[in-house]
Amino acid sequence: MDHEISLNTGTRMPILGLGVYKISEQEAETAVLTAIREGYRLIDTAPVYKNEEWIGKAIEKSPVPRSKLFITSKIWNTAQRMGDIDGALKRSLERLRLDYVDLYLIHWPVPGCYLGTYKEMEKLLSSGRTKAIGVSNFGIHQLDELKSISGIVPAVNQIEVHPLCFPHRLIEYCLSSNIAVQAYAPLARGAYLDNDIVCVLATKYARTPAQIGLRWAVQKGFGVIPKSSRPERIAVNSDLWSFELEPSEMSLLDQLNENLHTSGMPEDLKDILKWDDTGIIVP
Ligand SMILES: NC(=O)c1ccc[n+]([C@@H]2O[C@H](COP(=O)([O-])OP(=O)(O)OC[C@H]3O[C@@H](n4cnc5c(N)ncnc54)[C@H](OP(=O)(O)O)[C@@H]3O)[C@@H](O)[C@H]2O)c1
Repeated sequence: MDHEISLNTGTRMPILGLGVYKISEQEAETAVLTAIREGYRLIDTAPVYKNEEWIGKAIEKSPVPRSKLFITSKIWNTAQRMGDIDGALKRSLERLRLDYVDLYLIHWPVPGCYLGTYKEMEKLLSSGRTKAIGVSNFGIHQLDELKSISGIVPAVNQIEVHPLCFPHRLIEYCLSSNIAVQAYAPLARGAYLDNDIVCVLATKYARTPAQIGLRWAVQKGFGVIPKSSRPERIAVNSDLWSFELEPSEMSLLDQLNENLHTSGMPEDLKDILKWDDTGIIVP
């Protein structure tokens, strides 16, 4: 199986990445260096994770050259509300000690802001300070709106996906629009790791429940960005290529969907947006 996804920009994105939400300071630097040694080439960060500076230190010390790494960051809601799109990327790049990121995402579709943010991000793309632009937590409604104002299709929609959260309609929309799906919280923060079906499959394949859930997502063609700060888990989560789930097992896992969003809405949006099976909507 290919270890990369082709993006609509013509570039390629590693399927597997390390998520670094809730890892700080030295622990973040160590986790990134461990992940790179284990073969990860994509790191997913954001200003709101408050660790870009430490990710930057790790990239500087990395035995793998920067050109072989894929670094994603995102624009947070506050910067969107202030209209400070260029400044937000500038500050992220300074903290990361980089000239460019590989992918810059709108972290959340802040109502009244995200269309203007996207138009500004088009300029960041032209400047070369990001190689691709995309979105996160966008539903069909927001993606339709983007289509009406921009000729640049987002390269990626980063959304919560795992066997307990499988928004079919949104995923079909993304894939048919040539938008790659990158699954965040792909371990559901542990929520399916004791599920009976997942555990039976783990025993059958002599893998961990985490590997079964990640393999399900990878086999569906999604990117995955599991977070761990523990070296042994970082290693085990990267071993996804040496086994294959059967079609009937994939269907069994599909049926576990209960629209469970483990990551939740940010405080400033939770009275404004709500989830449905089209992703996210304005009530
Ligand atoms: N765009 C967005 O709005 C958004 C939202 C949420 C997340 N994200 C991104 O997606 C990444 C992953 O999501 P997440 O961090 O929320 O959740 P996750 O990756 O689903 O789960 C992380 C949790 O699972 C544990 N874990 C990791 N590997 C394990 C294993 N093999 N067995 C058992 N437990 C394991 C971790 O603990 P240890 O660290 O102790 O191993 C941590 O508590 C984030 O770090 C972030 O980069 C993006």
